[in-house]
Amino acid sequence: MPVVFMIFMLDKNNIPQHVAIIMDGNGRWAKERGQMRVFGHNEGMNALREIVKHSDILGVKYLTVYAFSTENWKRPIEEVSGIFKLLVKYVASELDELNRNNVMVNIIGDWSIIPEDAKKSVLKALETTKNNTGLVFNIAINYGGRAEIIRACNELIKEGKDSISEADFESKLYTNGCPDPDVIIRTGGEYRLSNFLTWQSAYSELVIVDCYWPEFNPSQYEAALEIYQSRNRRFGGL
Ligand code: FPP
Repeated sequence: MPVVFMIFMLDKNNIPQHVAIIMDGNGRWAKERGQMRVFGHNEGMNALREIVKHSDILGVKYLTVYAFSTENWKRPIEEVSGIFKLLVKYVASELDELNRNNVMVNIIGDWSIIPEDAKKSVLKALETTKNNTGLVFNIAINYGGRAEIIRACNELIKEGKDSISEADFESKLYTNGCPDPDVIIRTGGEYRLSNFLTWQSAYSELVIVDCYWPEFNPSQYEAALEIYQSRNRRFGGL
């Protein structure tokens, strides 16, 4: 039987406006190398650095990454504190370049309860980049889609509304002002959304990539976007 290879080329005129990424597989990547899970997160941070740069080069307007979920607190304390230390390290090493590249950093999720040093780094990143007009880089920290929906409902209740529109609801989401993600890429080979962008993902294309997040590089990123471009988006129409 002949083997058919499908070769796509990334169409630079059809780059998704909003790319969201579930950066999964850091722990498995580390384990396969006989290393601690935090080592995998550290390599994951390096992969993230390259993907942010490449998003900007490709002309993506919004990039949203899942760095820490509302459920990740269940992990061992060393791993949780290791991830927040990486956030501090990431801001210390990348903020100048992000700012030079006109990237606006935004945090989605309830970051009021994260460790103090991480909170300071977040504040610095937000303050430094708040007037930038380039790539909007949303980092999801202590984020959960369900928690975000409940928070939005509570905000609307506080306003005393008895009936609301989708636009009213969206105005209370952390992603207010961002278009819904065109594509959600998940590395690590698993087929689920894990409480990520629960409302916003209604019509997002899902691209599951087999490699672990620390292995995900700009050429795999382009390959994932080529898969996205091969999809026929109908939004419920024909
Ligand atoms: C999921 O992989 C990954 C995370 C929960 C953490 C993601 C964090 C980073 C990429 C680095 C930190 C960067 C910043 C900006 C904070 P997993 O641990 O669930 O992997 P597994 O499925 O193999 O166990």
